[in-house]
Amino acid sequence: MKKEHEINTKKRNFDQEATNWDQVPGRVKVAEGIAQSMIREITLTPDMDVLDFGCGTGLLTFALQPFVNSITGVDSSRGMIDVFRKKIKEQNLKNVKAEFVDLEKGDVLRGSFHLIVSSMTLHHIKNITPLFKQFHSLLLPSGQLAVGDLEPDDGQFHSDNEGVFHFGFDRKELHQIFADNGFRDVRHLTAAQVEKPVEGGQIRLFEIFLIIGRKCPLNFFNRL
Ligand SMILES: C[S@@+](CC[C@H](N)C(=O)[O-])C[C@H]1O[C@@H](n2cnc3c(N)ncnc32)[C@H](O)[C@@H]1O
Repeated sequence: MKKEHEINTKKRNFDQEATNWDQVPGRVKVAEGIAQSMIREITLTPDMDVLDFGCGTGLLTFALQPFVNSITGVDSSRGMIDVFRKKIKEQNLKNVKAEFVDLEKGDVLRGSFHLIVSSMTLHHIKNITPLFKQFHSLLLPSGQLAVGDLEPDDGQFHSDNEGVFHFGFDRKELHQIFADNGFRDVRHLTAAQVEKPVEGGQIRLFEIFLIIGRKCPLNFFNRL
């Protein structure tokens, strides 16, 4: 049987979804659940510089912004970045910025951060290991990585699976990927639940987890 990332080879066009992105209540509920879990689980402090990977219109970014020094949203959709920048301007925020980054075209993430967050983006990334390596190198010593994403969903969460390279993630497997890429103290919890109609007309409950890890030097385990 083919794996989901072998079936879905096309990148999703998020540009066309950007304008109405915040109008879908389930989507906002998931981002709020992830944001509230992060606020509860991570000690956010006014000196922290944060990166939001795959920020979209900034649903997570704007929720964390009041608690930290700065937050940078990066995204590979110009449409999403435009909506995000419009919101920064409307709210006259000085500590939030948005950057267009397309890793598939060879762009690399830049900067150094105390915390990297991401909401519902990882399942759109074909090969996540190089991304975890970038996250590790961008984090300051003892910096944290916090990712909110979908539990295994059999490909039912999205009505259209274009650009969906993973049909959710098994928490234990993702935990191992965190550990293999230099993160320790890894923990996970349920951040949100959302009901959606699936094929056949039934309503299915989908669960969203939050997984958090702390950077340790890559040779940490060799020194034990
Ligand atoms: C499902 S949306 C989530 C947006 C936002 N984090 C939220 O919770 O509403 C996924 C986002 O990841 C972005 N994305 C997908 N692949 C990306 C990549 N390779 N680099 C950066 N952003 C990417 C998309 O453009 C989109 O805005």
